[in-house]
Amino acid sequence: MTDRNYALITGASSGLGKEFAIQCAQRGMNVLLIALPGGNTMSLAENLRLEYSVDVQAFEFDMTDSIELISRVNEIADNYNINFLINNAGVGGTSSILETSLERIDGIIQLNVRSTTLITRLLIPHLMKNDRSYIMNISSMAAFSPIAYKTVYPASKAFISSFSLSLREELSGTGVSVSVVYPGPIMTNSLTARRIIAQGFKGKMGLLPTRRIAEIAMDKTLERKSTIVPGYMNRINHFLMGLMPESMRLKIISRAVKKEIQYSLPA
Ligand SMILES: NC(=O)c1ccc[n+]([C@@H]2O[C@H](COP(=O)([O-])OP(=O)(O)OC[C@H]3O[C@@H](n4cnc5c(N)ncnc54)[C@H](OP(=O)(O)O)[C@@H]3O)[C@@H](O)[C@H]2O)c1
Repeated sequence: MTDRNYALITGASSGLGKEFAIQCAQRGMNVLLIALPGGNTMSLAENLRLEYSVDVQAFEFDMTDSIELISRVNEIADNYNINFLINNAGVGGTSSILETSLERIDGIIQLNVRSTTLITRLLIPHLMKNDRSYIMNISSMAAFSPIAYKTVYPASKAFISSFSLSLREELSGTGVSVSVVYPGPIMTNSLTARRIIAQGFKGKMGLLPTRRIAEIAMDKTLERKSTIVPGYMNRINHFLMGLMPESMRLKIISRAVKKEIQYSLPA
């Protein structure tokens, strides 16, 4: 076990997770990256090591495999002192429920819900060894309302929200602070970008660069804030949506989201 502290980031090879990796390294943190095999995680680790003179280690495995997840995370925690956990890995998509395969549905639940819960539970005793530690869980503004044609994804993100806030309360009085982030739309890859554009004005409202969202989420988490909605427009949107009856909100959001279906991955 080294005596250095590390930030562990899931889903760190691309999108928001990659941005977290860059910003942690820029802030002088040593970083542990987790992503699927076959991506660019190893080269990202190498680039960050060279550019920022911090230690960066990459681990490639499928987090939806619970047995592998438990064994790899235990091994990582035995070798590195983790004081910052960023639960970022998550998948979604837009399709009618009958056109969504069981595998896709299971994958969303396994990654967004089960792997996040297990990894957090496994690491809490390790995080508690430090005077101050942080857990940042990435939910979504989709957690604030049910949404037709996304069905399982908003439910998974509502789970993350409830889980994080419960945990924050339970761990208050320890050195571990839990924050939950609700990003609005992020153009993290070309498919997501096409889906956001397809929604028209509503989809693009509150759009912020990935880097800016990561920066806000990092700053507020390190300030030990409980809930984080990056971007002024998203906070206004959230407030206005909260004034509407749920049935009206559900219809308005679902109508906008339906336009995305054509850009969804094959079920
Ligand atoms: N994009 C948006 O508009 C948006 C809005 C609100 C919230 N969010 C949330 O923000 C987070 C990041 O989203 P993103 O758009 O940046 O995602 P992304 O670009 O699709 O990246 C997902 C990351 O998760 C990794 N990953 C996927 N399945 C995995 C698995 N089974 N095991 C291990 N790693 C896995 C991917 O690894 P590989 O690259 O190796 O496949 C990648 O590093 C998610 O929780 C998402 O729900 C996104």
